[in-house]
Amino acid sequence: MTQTPPNTAARKILVTSALPYANSDLHLGHMLEQIQTDIWVRFQNLRGNDCLYFCADDAHGTAIMLKAEEKGISPEEHIANIKRDHEAVSAGFNIDFANFYSTHSEENRELSYLIYERLLANGHIASRKISQAYDPEKNLFLADRYIKGSCPKCKAEDQYGDNCEKCGATYSPMDLLNAKSTISGATPIAKDSEHFFFTLPAFSDFLKDWTRAGHLQDEVANKMAEWLDAGLQEWDISRDAPYFGFEIPGQPGKFFYVWLDAPIGYIASLKNYADKQGIDWMDYWKADSTTEVYHFIGKDIVNFHALFWPAMLHSAKLRTPTKICVHGFVTVNGTKMSKSRGTFINAKTYLEYLNPEYLRYYFAAKLTSNVDDIDLNLEDFIQRVNSDLVGKVVNIASRTAKFINNAGGALANEIADAELWQKFVDAGETIANYYESRDYSKAMREIMALADAANEYIATQEPWKLAKQAGAEAQTQAVCTLGINMFRAILTYLKPVLPALTADAEAFLGETLNWQAPVSFRAGTPINEFKPLLTRVEKDKVDAMLEATKEALAAAAPKAQGPLSDDPIAAEIEFNDFAKVDLRIALIANAEHVEGSDKLLRLTLDLGGETRNVFSGIKSAYDPKDLIGKLTVVVANLKPRKMKFGMSEGMVLAAGPGDKDIYLLEPHTGAKPGQRVM
Ligand code: MSP
Ligand code: ZN
Repeated sequence: MTQTPPNTAARKILVTSALPYANSDLHLGHMLEQIQTDIWVRFQNLRGNDCLYFCADDAHGTAIMLKAEEKGISPEEHIANIKRDHEAVSAGFNIDFANFYSTHSEENRELSYLIYERLLANGHIASRKISQAYDPEKNLFLADRYIKGSCPKCKAEDQYGDNCEKCGATYSPMDLLNAKSTISGATPIAKDSEHFFFTLPAFSDFLKDWTRAGHLQDEVANKMAEWLDAGLQEWDISRDAPYFGFEIPGQPGKFFYVWLDAPIGYIASLKNYADKQGIDWMDYWKADSTTEVYHFIGKDIVNFHALFWPAMLHSAKLRTPTKICVHGFVTVNGTKMSKSRGTFINAKTYLEYLNPEYLRYYFAAKLTSNVDDIDLNLEDFIQRVNSDLVGKVVNIASRTAKFINNAGGALANEIADAELWQKFVDAGETIANYYESRDYSKAMREIMALADAANEYIATQEPWKLAKQAGAEAQTQAVCTLGINMFRAILTYLKPVLPALTADAEAFLGETLNWQAPVSFRAGTPINEFKPLLTRVEKDKVDAMLEATKEALAAAAPKAQGPLSDDPIAAEIEFNDFAKVDLRIALIANAEHVEGSDKLLRLTLDLGGETRNVFSGIKSAYDPKDLIGKLTVVVANLKPRKMKFGMSEGMVLAAGPGDKDIYLLEPHTGAKPGQRVM
């Protein structure tokens, strides 16, 4: 193969995905983001650009500090464990970071100080005393999510510190009734403390321009406009000790809020890499840099990236991002990933059961350039991957390679159908444009249309018949050579999505697929023996993954106790189903033991004009004489049942697991025998 000359028009691009918090495992939502980013990065490099992908763990904050404490290890040890784990999982999904670092690093401290000093020097840091909820037992200021109590408006219990899930009221945590710290259970007190603020309102005009200058998707820019029009607030960037993070220079006991140093972690990850490689991080971040910077993030963290971050960079005289690429959230079978529903799928669990290339392809087939959520429908996942990758793509090679292999292994010299081949060449630019604009689903659709055309051609030519015809050797070889070339083109276009599958195909083809120029037709040279490239997704494996997910979630969940967890609420019914049950107030006119039964009492019930004989299994909990004269509730239209001791003409209602724990229902005073219970 010829060496490609260095590409002088190559773009220098730095790409990031959001830094996962170092307090939990990666799940399939994180993987959507990393896969989306990785595809874009691989695409850029395949096209000859110089594109580097940086990420890190977001290691600071109260949550991580408390998590380490809970595990009885230092925060440093905890974040090191998590980092090892995160890196292994990303590698499992073939995510190709130039560097995966940590925000708890010397580089990040240095850069955070540098940026803070610049903001300070420019007069963009303010300070003032604020009053905040404080846990007097734990000696810790409490963020809103660490306070629970009753809503001051509707009195709903168990509400978080800033808003009520029941009535929607918003309030300050100190207004909660019976407020408790969720960390210690103590009642929070209000305490004053000096905080530091980034003067965001000073950047209002800058941001109004910046958010409309092509750095954001339209829908994201519109959302930002709403916030900008509502008016910006100063941003509280400090937290009091104890806090796991960087102490603010010159302010003992005050730490940077995790979200201040988190995006700076993007630069720190680059710096850590650049120092080793002998490049200057400033090439990428100086105000007049000609490189491009792309941040891939989820829709929940847009304000940090599209408002606070560009404003900070602007004040610090650094460049702002070229683009913020925002994606939606992963849903599973149409609903939000949920721990209780067992669809909160851990990325590691996925890898234990399924090939990462399946998920990379499925996400690619669904991703667009907008912020819509991406549904992982597991039935559709199986169907789509099997039909597209196994049934269409790999099939092209498996239907043609063997005839080349059998005929000595060399490709033919001519193009059997030049017009058809030209279609494959021409599609390249369209597909490349879709990748560039992150319309991966459209790219996949184009590629699958090519695969359909290839399969149609092979079905019409029937090489398996040609191969048996005397004198048709050259034609067989030509048809299959076009087949292999169509496969080469398709895999070139899929290479950003399917790095592992492509690597195996490259071994079989004996070449590295390249997309710096339009795909060229390969003729004359030999190929290696074809081996199966991808197996079908098996439903059993998907089911097993879900089962393992449920088990892991159940094991991790705080042990639920009580009647609801022992005996979950039954399936929903219609009102009409309920109305069929005729419940009546009954007076227990008589109660007595039943000769020969150690469980039953015989009750004589007065329904206000009608008497019923009912056997009830409550002997273990009641002395008959205590029941006589009491009111209770009976199912009055239950079909009479013949029992060993006689007919039972109804059923009284009682709660409890049994034995001594049986509690007969009794209406409030005033109810009359015969009244209907609704
Ligand atoms: N630590 C911050 C990011 C700091 S970036 C300077 C954070 N971490 S996170 O672990 O909660 O999320 C990391 C990324 O994963 C975010 O972009 C977030 O939007 C994304 N996702 C988290 N759950 C997701 C889904 N269910 N679906 C898709 N992406 C989601 O935020
Ligand atoms: Zn309320």
